[in-house]
Amino acid sequence: MSFYIQEPHKNKNQNMNATYYIETMGCQMNKLDSELVTNELERAGYQPCDHINNAGIIIFNTCSVRQHAEEKVLSKIGQLRKRYMQKKDFVLAVIGCMAQRLGQDLLDGWDQAAIVCGPNQIHELVDLIEKVRTERDQGTKPRQARYLSLNDPEQDDLLEELDSRHQHRDERLPFMAFVRVMRGCNYFCSYCIVPYVRGRERSRPIKHIIDECKQLTDKGVKEITLLGQTINSYRYEDHDTIYGLADILESVHAIEGLDRIRFVTSYPRHFEERIFHLMASLPKVCSYLHLPAQSGSDRILKAMNRRYTVSDYIELIERGKAIVPELTVAGDFICGFPGEQESDHQATLELMRRIRYKNCFVFKYSPRPNTKAWQKMADDVPDDVKQGRLEELLALQHEIGYEDNQGLIGQSVEILVEGFSKNPHLDSDRSTSDTETAYPQLTGRTQGDQIVVFDGPEWLTGKLVEVKIRKASSLTLFGERYE
Ligand code: 5AD
Ligand code: SF4
Repeated sequence: MSFYIQEPHKNKNQNMNATYYIETMGCQMNKLDSELVTNELERAGYQPCDHINNAGIIIFNTCSVRQHAEEKVLSKIGQLRKRYMQKKDFVLAVIGCMAQRLGQDLLDGWDQAAIVCGPNQIHELVDLIEKVRTERDQGTKPRQARYLSLNDPEQDDLLEELDSRHQHRDERLPFMAFVRVMRGCNYFCSYCIVPYVRGRERSRPIKHIIDECKQLTDKGVKEITLLGQTINSYRYEDHDTIYGLADILESVHAIEGLDRIRFVTSYPRHFEERIFHLMASLPKVCSYLHLPAQSGSDRILKAMNRRYTVSDYIELIERGKAIVPELTVAGDFICGFPGEQESDHQATLELMRRIRYKNCFVFKYSPRPNTKAWQKMADDVPDDVKQGRLEELLALQHEIGYEDNQGLIGQSVEILVEGFSKNPHLDSDRSTSDTETAYPQLTGRTQGDQIVVFDGPEWLTGKLVEVKIRKASSLTLFGERYE
């Protein structure tokens, strides 16, 4: 398959119903999928619409990882019922992981959902939308113009073509893009829905990944984040050569014009040491690792089917820090997993103290239908206990983040500037005269993914800039530019 950028088709869809509105829940994979879908819609002549009430095509790209995420989507679908009953002037497509999980049940339960399409079928979405619109325009049986499109394992070539047409479209961050390196997951952690909705692990051909990165860099992208559920298990065989994540990093690093490369999410097993050496030797490869631990208790890790022990996990990070001293680590934890005792929770707090994460995402366990934990383990930690543990973990992380960030005061860091800061008022130390300087407050990130705000001209957006840190909170560093 060759790579090419196709120009948009001629606008054949100029009427009001040809506007689209897309809302994305969940992870970075979903953000990328939404971008690819947007790309296809625009090629077909659809125009973006900034309010759901005016859009002819409404797309919810959904997440299934926790029940709460699904409930939010169901409520959004529910809110469209009245408009559907009165006017039927829109086509609602529910796509993503929840679409895959609920499938026909979504179509059966919600008349206003015209299309339900899983994450491995999104290359079909525009055709499905056109079909529904045509059948409805013909006015014969509008209720029956509804489609379900779920997994077909034979479809990966078509998904590859979709990825290869990737035209980055984030207007807020035009110089940062995601590139998928693999699909699905083989790990089957006992709590996780991902392998059931995104399928088994498939690594993309390395040439496709590199060509896509080149294509994006040619369009002005400065930072690429490579995406995979367990990205260090990337493995692609071509003419007797086996390629891994380290090979991708080396090749992408060679692309001229690109400033930074990140990769998420890593799994704490089979992590090639070569990757740490590349972080240390290749300036564009960021010294940042997103390495979910999920728990600090071996007993719970076993029940989660995580296939490593707490000491394996610590040892991996210590090896990394020995090679890359400035390495920063972000973690994920689940609290209140079935059977989690206070002593397990204390072990998780202890792991957090030991690793000193840059930041952590903490989630209350949510049973997901058909997973092993759902089938075999009672959700026996009461919600108030889960909530208490969640707050304790977050409070500890807040303390660690604050302490570690104080150590950065006075240091110089290089940041990639992202644009205007969303919360300039948070920098309460800025005197009135500061806030009246000619420059607005901008935000950027270090190699280690730390957020830095500083005053500077807007044209610095998308550029690498040196700043000196003068103040720090647990999640934000405040810097000033060298004039
Ligand atoms: N309940 C709570 N959190 C979950 N995660 C995955 N599945 C569940 C679940 N059933 C969390 C894990 C994972 C992150 C993306 O979401 O921490 O790393
Ligand atoms: Fe889910 Fe585990 Fe796969 Fe991550 S590694 S996507 S938590 S099954």
